[in-house]
Amino acid sequence: MRMVKVDGHRLCLVRTSEGVFALDQACPHEGYGLTTGDLDGDLITCAWHNWKFRVSDGRCVLGEEDVRTHPVHVADDGTLSVTFVEPDPAEQRPKLLASLRSGIERDYTGQVARDVVRLLRADANPGELIWEAVAYGAPRAEFGWGHAVASLTDCLAMVEHYEDDDRALPIVQAIAGVAEGERDRPVRPLPDPARDVSSDPRAEFRGFVEREQLEPAQAVLRHAIAHGATADDLRPWFTEVVADHHLSYGHGAIYTQKAFQLLDRLGWGRADTVLPHLLPTLVYGTREDKLPYMKLFHRGVAELDLAALAAAAIEPVTGWADDGRLRSALLGDDRTEAASAAGAALASGAGLEGVLDAVTEAVSERMLRYDHAGEFDFHDDFGWLSITHGMTYANAVRWHVRRAPEITPDLVRLVLWTVFLANWTGRHEWHTGVGEREEIEPRSTDLVEYGRSLQHEALLDGTTAFIVHAHAVKTSVAATEEAVRLDSAVPLDAVARFMAAPKLERFVAATVARSIDFLSGRVQRE
Ligand code: FES
Repeated sequence: MRMVKVDGHRLCLVRTSEGVFALDQACPHEGYGLTTGDLDGDLITCAWHNWKFRVSDGRCVLGEEDVRTHPVHVADDGTLSVTFVEPDPAEQRPKLLASLRSGIERDYTGQVARDVVRLLRADANPGELIWEAVAYGAPRAEFGWGHAVASLTDCLAMVEHYEDDDRALPIVQAIAGVAEGERDRPVRPLPDPARDVSSDPRAEFRGFVEREQLEPAQAVLRHAIAHGATADDLRPWFTEVVADHHLSYGHGAIYTQKAFQLLDRLGWGRADTVLPHLLPTLVYGTREDKLPYMKLFHRGVAELDLAALAAAAIEPVTGWADDGRLRSALLGDDRTEAASAAGAALASGAGLEGVLDAVTEAVSERMLRYDHAGEFDFHDDFGWLSITHGMTYANAVRWHVRRAPEITPDLVRLVLWTVFLANWTGRHEWHTGVGEREEIEPRSTDLVEYGRSLQHEALLDGTTAFIVHAHAVKTSVAATEEAVRLDSAVPLDAVARFMAAPKLERFVAATVARSIDFLSGRVQRE
């Protein structure tokens, strides 16, 4: 083997019993020189991490990626000529996309990262790269959309904050989450679009979701998409079903927001993949409102006339301000008063967004005073991530409210679920008392710049497990929007504290502790 330079490119020239071959000198793994490796017949082994390549065609037989080869001609007088082939980026794109797909399938982050950078250099559209992960991950997600698929939306939006090769960071972070989460899972087939639907397919859809009939709900949805339903037509279908129940700590509303935002960027033509695979999350999500721990809140809701509150919310009073009752209720420990105070705020002209503003402010406060000791209580499943849902849920519900064609009692109920969660995330404080509020030095007085710096932080790997990373991404994005809405840095300060705080990847340890509790007949608090 010998390293030669051709037109400034370093090549590894190899003679075997079959002839003379030229390969890129840089190993596709981390770029070390192949001539420092071992040659055995037609096989070259990189000395650094043992990847193996076939010399004759560059095929990788151990490792993640083939090495490029170049034609060699041996003249009669023994002179070698090597033609260095720099492939046309446009022609390379299909091959690179196929390689990216295989990197996703095998969860090879290195291959994914290299292919993403190459594809960006070949002028690929970031949305197309994200789409590869959606197309792979959404049909495999066991219970419908999860954090990995939802992160794709936020990370795609973040690409705009970066230039050139650096755009790979949000793209690869998002794709890596899908590859890690969905690898080797079977594809969940969709039913065919329904042949016949009733005269009110929206009500039919809602009924199927309510009765947990997944396939009929998917079939009606696919029928609507196939018959030309638009995003504006279908968004209210989803808002209704996520308002029917306080679903999975708010994930129903949050993932619906992300799915529609993804389609805004990728094009409605992808709706028939994105939306039917979202449905299992909504159909099978935990209906928290049915659980005993929401009983006291329901007592407050039962006193409210949702239709009257919807009517009052149509025209909010300009300059409405909370007299302190709603904030105290959200941050207090009376679990009935939160609903009553929200109802009173709506009746006095707060509007749905006025209540959401108060929710965001209260959750920010909660994040600023959360006692980190809670992270180390393995007998309690409550922690940082639980609180962050208060922020992302309020932001998602604001998205639903703003896009709803009219203000309905369903929307009022959806807002009330966020009120519940903001109050409920105080349960840690009910056990331990209120922690000391931490004052944060803001990174910037420009809220968007401050938010972007936190979003960048979320993309770095300082957040231990993927699940924490996914929450850092969605909470930093939600907090940026909420801070701009409120013209206040407090939501961002809250996220900054969350990012900097100790967080344990405690899934195994906590599960062991709770399993021992369970098998010893001890029940969790609440
Ligand atoms: S650099 Fe060749 S295997 Fe790692």
